[in-house]
Amino acid sequence: MSEVRDSFKRISQMGFSDYFYNRLLTADVKIRAMFHGTDFARQKKALIDGVYVLIDYHEGGPLGKMSIRRLGEKHNRSHMNVPADLYEIWVDCFILTLSEKDPKFSASLELQWREVLKPGIDHMISNY
Ligand code: HEM
Repeated sequence: MSEVRDSFKRISQMGFSDYFYNRLLTADVKIRAMFHGTDFARQKKALIDGVYVLIDYHEGGPLGKMSIRRLGEKHNRSHMNVPADLYEIWVDCFILTLSEKDPKFSASLELQWREVLKPGIDHMISNY
């Protein structure tokens, strides 16, 4: 799925995380509350790394395999307590931001992105 990697290279260099978190934080009051006190300079970098984990997990690469478990653990009910429905909102905010920021956005690219994000997110949700 190099089209997805190319897409992520384009958008992560143009302030994607800023736009994404603006959307995510205004999408649901529960979400805003979860990020109360978050250091966003750090969080925006973590998002980029996290998305690379999802991409690598989809490709069956070593980074994905190693990191997805830890990422799931961080978000589970004993830690950040992120239930499944919030992941849907996360993905919708991601795709919406992508549609605005990636000049090469298309319906086919959206499908590819959804396909790439899904296995890692399913893994995270299954360890909630
Ligand atoms: C599915 C894709 C997601 C990815 C790739 C992702 C990635 C990350 C990463 C890398 C961190 C930093 C972890 C660390 O400190 O080691 C983090 C923290 C966090 N994530 Fe996620 N996340 C995802 C989904 C979500 C969702 C759906 C929510 C809630 C709506 C959420 C809420 C949080 C919160 C509250 C933190 C902690 C922020 C803080 O340190 O104050 N995440 N996420």
